[in-house]
Amino acid sequence: MRAKASESLFCFRTLGIQPFVWSQGPWFKLLGRCPTWGENRGRKLMTKLEQDLVAIRRHLHQNPETAHQEYQTTEYILACLRRHGIRVIDYGLTAGVVAEIGGIVPGPVIALRADIDALPVTEQTDLPYASRIPGKMHACGHDFHTAVVIGAGILLKQLESDLPGTVRLIFQPAEETATGARWIMEHRVLDDVSCIFGLHNKPDLPVGTVGIKAGPLMAGAYGFVVEIQGQGSHAAVPDHSVDPIVTASLVVSALLEVTIRTFDLGVRQAVLKRFEDIVYGVSSALGASASIRWVQGPPPVNNHEGLTDFVRDVVAGTGLRVVEPKPSAAGEDFAFYQQSVPGVFVFVGTSGHYEWHHPQFDLDESALPFTAEFCKELCRLALTRLQFHDPLAFYGEADEEQIFDGP
Ligand code: NI
Repeated sequence: MRAKASESLFCFRTLGIQPFVWSQGPWFKLLGRCPTWGENRGRKLMTKLEQDLVAIRRHLHQNPETAHQEYQTTEYILACLRRHGIRVIDYGLTAGVVAEIGGIVPGPVIALRADIDALPVTEQTDLPYASRIPGKMHACGHDFHTAVVIGAGILLKQLESDLPGTVRLIFQPAEETATGARWIMEHRVLDDVSCIFGLHNKPDLPVGTVGIKAGPLMAGAYGFVVEIQGQGSHAAVPDHSVDPIVTASLVVSALLEVTIRTFDLGVRQAVLKRFEDIVYGVSSALGASASIRWVQGPPPVNNHEGLTDFVRDVVAGTGLRVVEPKPSAAGEDFAFYQQSVPGVFVFVGTSGHYEWHHPQFDLDESALPFTAEFCKELCRLALTRLQFHDPLAFYGEADEEQIFDGP
């Protein structure tokens, strides 16, 4: 594990449940300049939870599986949960896991989601726990998300008898192909859920920060297949032919983009219309014909206003620092859940050196235990709030524009 200077100092009590955070002060400044301090801290203060979560994350990192093939990953998650007495719910999933904690005290059901799939990327790090599977890598940090949600489950299990409702943990396959969330919903996992939370690591945010933003956070993505038909002829009479390659290259240079990513459905519709105008217009000007097939990706991740305020308060209460993240042009199929129930998706700072999907992607594992602690608190407080408040009051004013009907 690389030792890194981070903006905050995290120290856990011996039992490792409640983190202290000092973000300022002479001790931080003094210790922050000591070159060996980071390593010593790691050895002395690593709690049992941190050890467990690092081991889980590294096992997943070494054994990545891509979308719709997460069978070993599923077995491993099941084993981790069962070791801690967390009950697994059978929704008939062939990959992915749903588990629950609570329900002893009657109350609502809320969901916490991790994605579990890796990418078809060849890892180019020299980490001792680098991928063992050629051509596959957890280059988006979904191994981190999985370990965090298992950690939140372990912490919630200790509170189970007092939880006023049920926390449903969703370990979702196939996020990278934007098909897993819909598949989970087709298996009716969200039917009785009051609200849902999810997270993504963020390399450009420092460890100890959580990026929270109401409204659009990640872009909706749209793919396309364009076919252009020209006209063949003998080489001696090129004036009788229409070269589809020339036409296609002019279409591409007129479009300049290879996918369509927008944060607003109105803008998306306008961009799609403009796209069609360019493809059909350029093709017909050169005498070729064109067809467009749209490949639907997820809508924008759009965080519920009232629920986002609640999450912001929870983060502040755990001693982490709330930051306002820039919206990301990446797509994320958590957005499909938000079309069905109020949901909030947050970015967790992991002080990475490379962006998502890079073959040298890495993250700072010291973020694991307190991210699990934050998720535990989020679920516990959301259930408590729902127990004493009307859900509508909890969520704030209904905002029609936040519920998308899809493109
Ligand atoms: Ni990802």
